Amino acid sequence: MNNPYLPEAYEILEIRKETAIDYTFKVAYEGPLVGGQFMEISVPGVGEAPISICNFDDHSLEMTIRKVGRLTDQVFELNAGDTLYMRGPYGNGFDLEVFRGKDVAFIAGGTGLAPVRKTIDYFARNKDEIQLLEVLIGFKSPSDQLFVEDINRWSKDNAVTVTVDKGEDDWQGETGLITTHIEQLDLSNVSEKIAVVVGPPIMMKVICDLTRPYGLKTIVNLNPLMLDGTGMCGGCRVSVGGQTLFACVDGPSFDGHLVDFREMMMRLQTYRHEETTSYEHACRLTGVQ
Ligand code: FES
Repeated sequence: MNNPYLPEAYEILEIRKETAIDYTFKVAYEGPLVGGQFMEISVPGVGEAPISICNFDDHSLEMTIRKVGRLTDQVFELNAGDTLYMRGPYGNGFDLEVFRGKDVAFIAGGTGLAPVRKTIDYFARNKDEIQLLEVLIGFKSPSDQLFVEDINRWSKDNAVTVTVDKGEDDWQGETGLITTHIEQLDLSNVSEKIAVVVGPPIMMKVICDLTRPYGLKTIVNLNPLMLDGTGMCGGCRVSVGGQTLFACVDGPSFDGHLVDFREMMMRLQTYRHEETTSYEHACRLTGVQ
């Protein structure tokens, strides 16, 4: 039996720059995957991190990684042809059956677009399976945009809105926080609709608070603290409808109207100091045998 905690080596096939700090790594991979799942990537001697799978086919998967710490600094040193260590996939991913025959609205903030990219793309290519595809995406600025080619392709025959918190002089699109564009969604006939919201916890909370009074089914994809990804450490526990669940094995998608976002946001602050100091710490023992 394979050891679920043992990372295996995979070849990096391609690296694409999305923004100054977000690169998409295409890795050779064969095996069943579902949009919304994640992998644990690792660098020996440095650490591990959960990263969403943003695309896949029969022979590869793609993950968009943000350079934010010691581990990702090391990953950004890698090139096509190098080895990336991974284990997974983890999480349940999105059940496409839930969306079939409905008006589906994907609302994604920043890197929150990565976990839903594959599912949006699936319905953009298989429009007959749903009634309507709406996509609302928010980025901090034009230079923070991800998957620009995909967004342009989806925009050709779907209702796609991209907004940036702050535009630049040549920005032709919408401006303002993503939450201020929610009124663009038609909230009549909510039994025929479903929303998927992925992004920073406060964004997901605000949007769930907006959709709750309308009874619009709203699925969120949570990003709590994660370590092992297998339900063992308890780091990713979240309260959903009064029950304690583990995002890695029970989610990471949940009914957003039942999630205790306040508790999740407090837990996310728990190790903020350690994360910062670990990034700034220069180890004087490195190289000691
Ligand atoms: Fe450890 Fe989910 S990441 S229990």
